[in-house]
Amino acid sequence: MIHHVKWCKYDNMGQISIKTEEDIQGMRIAGRLAAEVLDFIAPHVKQGITTDELDRLCHEYMVNVQQSIPAPLNYCPPGYTPYPKAICTSVNDVVCHGIPGDKVLKNGDVINIDITVIKDGYHGDSNQTFMVGEVKPEVRDLVERTHEAMMRGIDAALPGREINIIGRAIQAYAKRFNYGVVRDFTGHGIGESFHSGLIVPHYDSAPLYNDEIKVGMVFTIEPMLTLGTYEWDMWPDNWTVVTKDKSITAQFEHTIAITEDGPEILTLA
Ligand code: MF3
Ligand code: CO
Ligand code: CO
Repeated sequence: MIHHVKWCKYDNMGQISIKTEEDIQGMRIAGRLAAEVLDFIAPHVKQGITTDELDRLCHEYMVNVQQSIPAPLNYCPPGYTPYPKAICTSVNDVVCHGIPGDKVLKNGDVINIDITVIKDGYHGDSNQTFMVGEVKPEVRDLVERTHEAMMRGIDAALPGREINIIGRAIQAYAKRFNYGVVRDFTGHGIGESFHSGLIVPHYDSAPLYNDEIKVGMVFTIEPMLTLGTYEWDMWPDNWTVVTKDKSITAQFEHTIAITEDGPEILTLA
């Protein structure tokens, strides 16, 4: 997701691009590959494995099996240091951008795995939160409802509406359960660049972020919901974002294209 204070409008001067049919075809391929990495790694997400091992498996699958490029590796938005790994692994109170390392998964953890591939110059970006063994019912509910929140955001993304309809749909649903809705990391335009000028808030930002959703736009929807606050801290590694109150958090992400008929999810296997 894009850090909307630091990353916005840095790579295409804020232009919101309308893709050609050829671009969208390229993005369908990249999107499917991202989804396939998630399907590949799912059975490995078990207690006892390290996040480094998950990174190694995904990295090898991308490079050797798919011949795709892991977009995170060495990615360096303004104000950041180059990202050191191929994927993001965000465990429990880590909201996003967790760096794989020697952390061992244990029973009851939740882990988000965020995959972005580049294929033939196009990006596909998707993530899922996995549950490790037996998780507490309230955590299972959070994970399932975060997925539902993403789907409601996707369904709201119809041409002619303002982009802030998406966050309004997500927040209205999350509010029922009193979940925190993270505001400062957002969905983003995507294509030949990883994060383009378009910002897609997951909260009700109206009257701000009123860009019209148009046929040919491609962007991500990737809500982060928490069992507590939406406020966050950054670890000294300058990447890992955690909830300020250390509450558990979940996220799901798809890349979608806007068609005449509505949203088309590109990140399906
Ligand atoms: N994949 C994340 C997103 O959904 C961005 C990760 S940036 C990285 O936008 F450098 F941490 F990989
Ligand atoms: Co994204
Ligand atoms: Co992502």
